[in-house]
Amino acid sequence: MPTAAPSTTSRIAIVTGASSGIGAATARQLAAAGYRVVLTARRKDRIEALAEEITNAGHAATAYQLDVTDRAAVDEFATAFKTIGVLINNAGGALGADPIATGDPADWRTMYETNVIGTLNLTQALLPKLVASGDGTVVVISSTAGHGTYEGGGGYVAAKHGAHVLAETLRLEIVGQPVRVIEIAPGMVRTDEFALTRFNGDEERAAKVYQGVAEPLTADDVAETVTWAVTRPSHVNVDLLVLRPRAQASNTKVHREQ
Ligand SMILES: NC(=O)c1ccc[n+]([C@@H]2O[C@H](COP(=O)([O-])OP(=O)(O)OC[C@H]3O[C@@H](n4cnc5c(N)ncnc54)[C@H](OP(=O)(O)O)[C@@H]3O)[C@@H](O)[C@H]2O)c1
Repeated sequence: MPTAAPSTTSRIAIVTGASSGIGAATARQLAAAGYRVVLTARRKDRIEALAEEITNAGHAATAYQLDVTDRAAVDEFATAFKTIGVLINNAGGALGADPIATGDPADWRTMYETNVIGTLNLTQALLPKLVASGDGTVVVISSTAGHGTYEGGGGYVAAKHGAHVLAETLRLEIVGQPVRVIEIAPGMVRTDEFALTRFNGDEERAAKVYQGVAEPLTADDVAETVTWAVTRPSHVNVDLLVLRPRAQASNTKVHREQ
């Protein structure tokens, strides 16, 4: 017999990288779905403002400043919880679009640290609390860059493949325990900061990413998908969901209007 949809009442959902883009949108939507959301990111002012906005809308939210690459800080953060229902590993991003021949190893390291080790840190620290809830969900926001390469993808593609493999391996290793592992892999999403960060604040290069693309995905599109996946009945595990804008057929085939 199918199990009921997980009760969201009083359940905690932790969202990393909640200070902008997909993380902020996901926090808003999970709060509206009844989760008590815990917003984390390095920029304290932004997560505090968002927690206030969510609270003023009648939902439950708190903010906690956290760098996902700082393992001691992550372990300290985890001590605040006995059980949690949902962990959204969203913090991450890309740095540069150089070919392998000239890519900066420091950028590669930072991308691996954030997208992979950050996800590992949070997942390791919180897995016992997810198990203790009797009905936990780990979400990994990877990317279509975790499922295929493209020229200039370099260290981002490598890191997102790492995030994908982490999700797949964890699912194998914890089968039988009451925790689902869901991977959401978006293609082109137009968020305020992703491309700007990638190109070190160069607005012209950032704008070119989306140039002529009629409707890239929005942060809300991804957040809706995440919220849908985590609110499926407990026995339903959306292993991997790839979503792209209609104008993007693959990592390298994008329709651009002139
Ligand atoms: N936009 C896209 O096209 C796209 C497509 C596929 C996948 N994704 C993935 O989706 C996720 C969110 O992307 P986005 O578009 O929403 O980008 P974004 O607006 O740049 O958001 C990135 C978030 O990650 C946080 N972050 C970065 N490094 C961190 C660290 N060391 N510790 C804690 N938080 C950190 C940032 O917060 P602070 O700077 O305040 O710490 C920010 O909240 C990323 O993993 C990205 O790779 C994006």
